[in-house]
Amino acid sequence: MLVPMRAILEAADKYDYAQGAFNVNAVCQAKAVINVHEMFRSPAILQGADLANGFMGGRTDFMNATLEDKKKGAKNIADAVKKYGTDSAIPIALHLDHGKNFDSCVAAIEGGYTSVMIDGSHLPFDENVELTREVVKYAHERGVSVEGELGVLAGVEDHVFSANSTYTNPASAIEFFRKTGVDALAISYGTMHGANKGKNAVIRKEIAIAIKETMRHEGIEGYLVSHGSSTVPQYIVEEINGLGGELVNTYGIDVNQLIEAGHCGINKINVDTDIRLAVTRNMKELFAREKALQNSASIGAIYELLEKNKAAFDPRVFLPPIMDTVMFGNIPDDDVARICKCVEDGVKEVVGTLIVKFGSYGKAPKVELTTLDEMADRYKKAGI
Ligand code: G3H
Ligand code: 13P
Ligand code: ZN
Repeated sequence: MLVPMRAILEAADKYDYAQGAFNVNAVCQAKAVINVHEMFRSPAILQGADLANGFMGGRTDFMNATLEDKKKGAKNIADAVKKYGTDSAIPIALHLDHGKNFDSCVAAIEGGYTSVMIDGSHLPFDENVELTREVVKYAHERGVSVEGELGVLAGVEDHVFSANSTYTNPASAIEFFRKTGVDALAISYGTMHGANKGKNAVIRKEIAIAIKETMRHEGIEGYLVSHGSSTVPQYIVEEINGLGGELVNTYGIDVNQLIEAGHCGINKINVDTDIRLAVTRNMKELFAREKALQNSASIGAIYELLEKNKAAFDPRVFLPPIMDTVMFGNIPDDDVARICKCVEDGVKEVVGTLIVKFGSYGKAPKVELTTLDEMADRYKKAGI
């Protein structure tokens, strides 16, 4: 069943485990994320990033996606999540990741998302509050959850305490929760996006502890989110490079630090890069093992893109030859089915591992099954 994200985070907070949130860019990824969560009886949060919606709307040059492209893509991904998730026994939230502006959030909600992030972290505090409040008002009237962001995830070396520190200031986080009414807040505490997080990145868990502890004292019921949390498994990096990949300086966050953060106030942990890496490795391996596929009429062009972009690991670089499959899940022949299996197996390998590590396995029954209408009523009664 599809639920607002808040219902899933309430359970994670109450039962002291972390909920992974996994990015998807194609219909078969959504299917695999749902399937692996079902297998582990875990609640599920699927995320479509703003640009992912552009890609799912048919823009292979997704960096240039328009609002119209994002609207189409949001609907395509939401339709897939509904197809595989509506009758599922586990609670599932579909969340917009890094929503750029109010219109992106509206597009996602109209498409069928049950949760949105508005990322105003680049704005001055007051403007971030104003934008986030506007989204909260629109979303909460519809029962949709909202995540905001405060603090900038930057290079690890930049993280110093000074007037322009990029870490989230715990006092500002409390003020942000109060002024905006957001359900969840992404904080900057030592993680960063992508596959180059530095060899020994250290999470400053004290920031999460300080915010969460103060929230308890102040009676603020909200949830903290860890972005940029891929673990970048070294065995996958080595396998990609062993298959001719050119990944350099690729390091993630040590999973034990994430597990600890999950007991220090972090409720949601965002992972995208690990999935991208596993899917890329699987596709490279397929073409290395079965050379005849390199000349396939339907997927040979994917092989060419893999060969041309040896330092890349974003499947969106490689999948443009099969956009009908990406956007709608259509599988025209056996060769395309082989690529879908690469994608699905990659998702299951890394997501399954993290469901177990983060401790969300078996927790599906702990989530209160709440509809968007019921959640809208709750917000209305609480005046948020
Ligand atoms: O946090 C960002 C995600 O990894 C999404 O990346 O904006 O390239 O779709 P994207
Ligand atoms: P990674 O790049 O570490 O996977 O982070 C993903 C993320 O924060 C999505 O919002
Ligand atoms: Zn992020």
